[in-house]
Amino acid sequence: MKLIKVKNYNELSEKASDIVINEVLENSKAVLGFATGVTPLGLYKNLVEAFKKRKVDFSGVKTFNLDEYYPIKKTSKNSYHYYMHKNLYDKINVKKENVNLFDGEAKNSRKECERYKKELSKVKIDLQILGVGVNGHVGYNEPGSTLNSKTRLINLSEETIKSKLKQFRNKKNFPLQALTIGIKNIMSAKKLLLLASGKEKKEAIKHLIYGKVSSEWPVSFLRKHKNLTVIVDFDV
Ligand code: GLP
Repeated sequence: MKLIKVKNYNELSEKASDIVINEVLENSKAVLGFATGVTPLGLYKNLVEAFKKRKVDFSGVKTFNLDEYYPIKKTSKNSYHYYMHKNLYDKINVKKENVNLFDGEAKNSRKECERYKKELSKVKIDLQILGVGVNGHVGYNEPGSTLNSKTRLINLSEETIKSKLKQFRNKKNFPLQALTIGIKNIMSAKKLLLLASGKEKKEAIKHLIYGKVSSEWPVSFLRKHKNLTVIVDFDV
């Protein structure tokens, strides 16, 4: 594991975007795994800036996202489908057919997981961007998720619902479930780049670095990956 400690969020986002841009410059057909939440917003802003300045070309890139609430309308401002298009996909030249997102509107969640699994099985993710939840979840692999967990429908934890409700605009139809790729899928990526900003993530990162590898803190499984880079803007 490579741990990079930066001074602040801007530097975290800069280092992260340098890594992603270099990945695409070295491999124009890179398969990139993206995360959502607040943490990667600075990274996505930098990628859009770099694209506008013609420093990087995403036309050959394939993308996969970690997760999506379920059920949720694609047009909902709370959906990750909306989040990714608003913050990245609509602002760079990634091809529509190369963007892979869970369909939060799918009538049958099991079939949707099968569909997503099939798409994932066609590629090997070159670089997977990750955030981490306060309770140590990655993607939506909540505490209790195993190392062997796969693409599936999960129940959001109380803690996650509480922390995400703050970000949701209309609280009334907050989804209680999500579709997520599993820890097994994440661990099969060639490289992992985990971003954590703010003291509330300190405990999760300490479990990653020093804690017992266990389902209690799913982020701890990442320590077993042979090519993990972690960027934090706090002391651990
Ligand atoms: C959600 C997302 C994760 C993300 C986490 C942390 O659970 N499914 O992919 O890493 O939140 O989000 P934030 O960066 O907003 O703290």
